[in-house]
Amino acid sequence: MHIHKYEKIWLFFGIGSLFVFLTIIGVSAFAQGNQPPSCLTTIDPEKVDETPPFNKPGLVKTGDNEYQLNIVASAFAYTPNQIEIPKGAKVTINVTTKDVIHGFEMAGTNVNMMVEPGYVNSFTKTFNKTGQYTIVCNEYCGAGHHMMTAKVKVVN
Ligand code: CUA
Repeated sequence: MHIHKYEKIWLFFGIGSLFVFLTIIGVSAFAQGNQPPSCLTTIDPEKVDETPPFNKPGLVKTGDNEYQLNIVASAFAYTPNQIEIPKGAKVTINVTTKDVIHGFEMAGTNVNMMVEPGYVNSFTKTFNKTGQYTIVCNEYCGAGHHMMTAKVKVVN
């Protein structure tokens, strides 16, 4: 088969740019792999009850108006499931699961996380208004999925 000289040149450039492209993808994937996002802290799902801060789940004051809210998800509940937050608090919610994948959605807010065994997911939110929020599980997790909720009250 006869290949025209210009076609050869184009073929060369085509393959060449493909290599460059693959190298860039490979390098950036590697660079990302070296630095996992901080929202994906790992945890042994079998040892959640013994691992701080999840050995004492709940709201912890960490600074001036700053709090950590550590929540354990399991089939089919959140621990704790009644939470009071002072108005104006900046809260970092950390959540993990002891068993299967659960969801963590604070209805009416932008708090929405997938909770996977082996990982701690975090979301920081400032609660500037008093009121009530319901945390719901939005990942199907079994027979009690629809009952898996918790209540958050923002109080003065
Ligand atoms: Cu937990 Cu659905």
